[in-house]
Amino acid sequence: MRDRRLRAPEVGPGGGLGPPRGASRAPGDPARFGPDSRSPLLEAGWHYIDTVELDDVTAEDWALLNRQRDSFYAREQLRQVLRLLKCSEGDASFGYQINNYRHCLQAATLAYRAGEDEEIVVAALLHDVGVVLCPDSHAEFAACLLASYVSERTHWMLRHHTIFQHVHLAGVHDPAFDPDERERWRGHRYFECTAAFVDRYDQRAICPNYDTAPLEFFVPMVQRVFARPPHHLVVD
Ligand SMILES: [Fe+2]
Ligand SMILES: [Fe+2]
Repeated sequence: MRDRRLRAPEVGPGGGLGPPRGASRAPGDPARFGPDSRSPLLEAGWHYIDTVELDDVTAEDWALLNRQRDSFYAREQLRQVLRLLKCSEGDASFGYQINNYRHCLQAATLAYRAGEDEEIVVAALLHDVGVVLCPDSHAEFAACLLASYVSERTHWMLRHHTIFQHVHLAGVHDPAFDPDERERWRGHRYFECTAAFVDRYDQRAICPNYDTAPLEFFVPMVQRVFARPPHHLVVD
């Protein structure tokens, strides 16, 4: 596996990731938590539980949480998924001519223009959304993110897309990647579609001059996929 030793992030003279020692935060700074600093509830009419220790949560508390949780997740999940992608919009590149945000949008645009169904377009949009967060397991990250809303086939494609890319790296002679790694899946029912997904969309989506659709174009598609009734996917 490639050596990914981390370099320490830039820190202030205080030694931490916050403001330097002695500096005060401005009023209203969300990082400042006072003695009574409950986070706002999403909906008017919702209620807090009084309990502040998880071990002390009562059946009554739990029932209240259950009543509010489903609609909270229904609204916040989509917002957070889109925010996760959107937050990398202005990121720099480490060498490719476009950053990961544009790569994701471009892969989705290619899939859409090839006539793929909505689920594949959304899979292309989100296939690398975790690539900086967890480089070596970003395929599993994307597969987990969509697992409850997509088919077993799409989940498998996402989960294995990095392995299917290695064949395209044969020419770079990097010992970290085995170009034939995908061959252990030869004959699998999802081998050909995964190879096509990678070949047609992922591999081709690094062009700075491609007429890539904006994120807003894909938002209704992401919304519809995450609005599907969630299912429990049994993964082999
Ligand atoms: Fe990837
Ligand atoms: Fe990719």
